[in-house]
Amino acid sequence: MTVTQRIWWKDGVVYQIYPASYKDSNNDGLGDIPGIISKIDYIKDLGINIIWISPMYDSPQHDMGYDISNYEAVYAPYGTVDDMERLVEACHSRGMRLILDLVVNHTSDEHEWFKESRSSKDNPKRDWYIWKPARYAADGTRIPPNNWRSFFSGSAWQWDEHTQEYYLHLFAKQQPDLNWENPVTRRAIYDSAMEFWLKRGVDGFRVDTVNMYSKGTELKDAPIIDPGIFEQPASGLFCNGPRMHEFLREMNAEVLSKYDTMIVGELPHTPDPAHVLRYVGSGDKQLDMVFQFDIVDLGTGKTHKYEYEGYQLSGMKEVIRKWQQFIDGSDGWTTAFCENHDQGRSVSRYTSDAPQWRERSAKMLAMMMCAMTGTLFIYQGQEIGMINAPKDWPIEDYKDIESVNYYNSVAQRTNNDPKALGHVMKSIQILGRDHARLPMQWDSTPYAGFTGKKDGAWMRTHDLYKEINVASQLNKPSSVLNFWKKMLKTRKDYKDLFIHGQFDAFDMQNQETFVFGKRFGNDRAVVALNFTDEEQVFKRPDVGGKMELLVGNVEGGDGSEEKLMPYEGRIYLVC
Ligand code: NOJ
Repeated sequence: MTVTQRIWWKDGVVYQIYPASYKDSNNDGLGDIPGIISKIDYIKDLGINIIWISPMYDSPQHDMGYDISNYEAVYAPYGTVDDMERLVEACHSRGMRLILDLVVNHTSDEHEWFKESRSSKDNPKRDWYIWKPARYAADGTRIPPNNWRSFFSGSAWQWDEHTQEYYLHLFAKQQPDLNWENPVTRRAIYDSAMEFWLKRGVDGFRVDTVNMYSKGTELKDAPIIDPGIFEQPASGLFCNGPRMHEFLREMNAEVLSKYDTMIVGELPHTPDPAHVLRYVGSGDKQLDMVFQFDIVDLGTGKTHKYEYEGYQLSGMKEVIRKWQQFIDGSDGWTTAFCENHDQGRSVSRYTSDAPQWRERSAKMLAMMMCAMTGTLFIYQGQEIGMINAPKDWPIEDYKDIESVNYYNSVAQRTNNDPKALGHVMKSIQILGRDHARLPMQWDSTPYAGFTGKKDGAWMRTHDLYKEINVASQLNKPSSVLNFWKKMLKTRKDYKDLFIHGQFDAFDMQNQETFVFGKRFGNDRAVVALNFTDEEQVFKRPDVGGKMELLVGNVEGGDGSEEKLMPYEGRIYLVC
């Protein structure tokens, strides 16, 4: 059995808010902190204990706030530091906690630290970022220090005319990477990005790209896996570098250990469970838990995310099993999530968003998520079954730097080849980060009740907001929203099994149904989910007891049926 201690962040359910798209209180078309405060009771009523708010810091917004120009200020259209203190108080007074996004792999190029760093080669902050001289090809052409590709297309190096060197940016060129090798930089990060907010009562952080701070000092070329282009994917070289664990231990000792916090890190490109346990084992104080991205990476392309390849249900089962079971017998902890601000909506990606299936699909996914071990994360709008933007939206309706840059790079490379661009659009329609960033659908008034601005929100509102919105679901007992409430309550009522239990997968090769078990002491449950739009045979696993239906998403069944209806889900207790 998992060695499990009961700590608030294990039993809690986290609700992620994307400030730009949650609720606009002053009709400027952008969401804001007062807007979030106005919805706190809605969130509490859903059954949430912890709110995670994506970056609300001052920022030029090249990457929606993941490019921070001042850790100690709030982006003015979102509000003020005082508003954030009110938000902390609004959460705490209701018995909820608030965690912030900690983005310290990079800052904005408009951060004062970077402005100083780029001002001259002998500026005291020059070494706070990663600067390197150019290389030169045989014909004298200037080339970057290595061939690393940035996550947002193109080279990860930007040439600086003024000081005649390149700086590293794993993301956009407006997001220069901080140099964690420098202890003075690390101390400044701890003070400005962490202590400033912990002293104001926040309860922890979701840590952006937590395994990229230590890049080593060699910075060598990545192997060529995408021939014909200079820049190559290089995550294997800059993730989990030599001093990564040391840095996180230090962060924990110097800052986090002084507070009662929850720390969840983004841990991409770390496939080895033993390695992940080093980050989340309670003995080696680094992180409390991490996000493993295999579930949301399903079907993404090998050379680029937006070369979508599709995936099979057996693949999903495999990654869920892996990251559910990796903590068995250890004191590590895991997370359960299938949406966030960087992903397409789960109903559209994993099930069906067709009108006849989308509600049942959303409920089935709620069952899957609520039965999983670990801290559960829900993304705004998931609780009402929001779906991807319609397929007829042109590229001009997409705003995200990742999709737009990739689309433009393919357009340039292929001379606007319609076939290549059509393929990119298909991928964006499934995986685009914008799908999660559409305004929250509150009601059926113009712009989904998100904003009162006459010409609408910063981002196009979903065409179907009149059909999918909070107001229409609140008082409808059979709605997706009320189903989520019921499932979150069920998760809490049976927390040993669902939050802390051990996970067993059955019939792994079945591409239509996903059947898994949960165990805790003598308690057992079985979860059966039909991932297709056709009836499927329900192969009962041999669990050596009588299976009694606890909850289902199809009305009228008693659980004895040998078939699962399209997108039907059932959870049984074994007696
Ligand atoms: C991961 C964040 O989730 C994503 O939105 C962001 O673009 C990158 N890190 C860079 O900060």
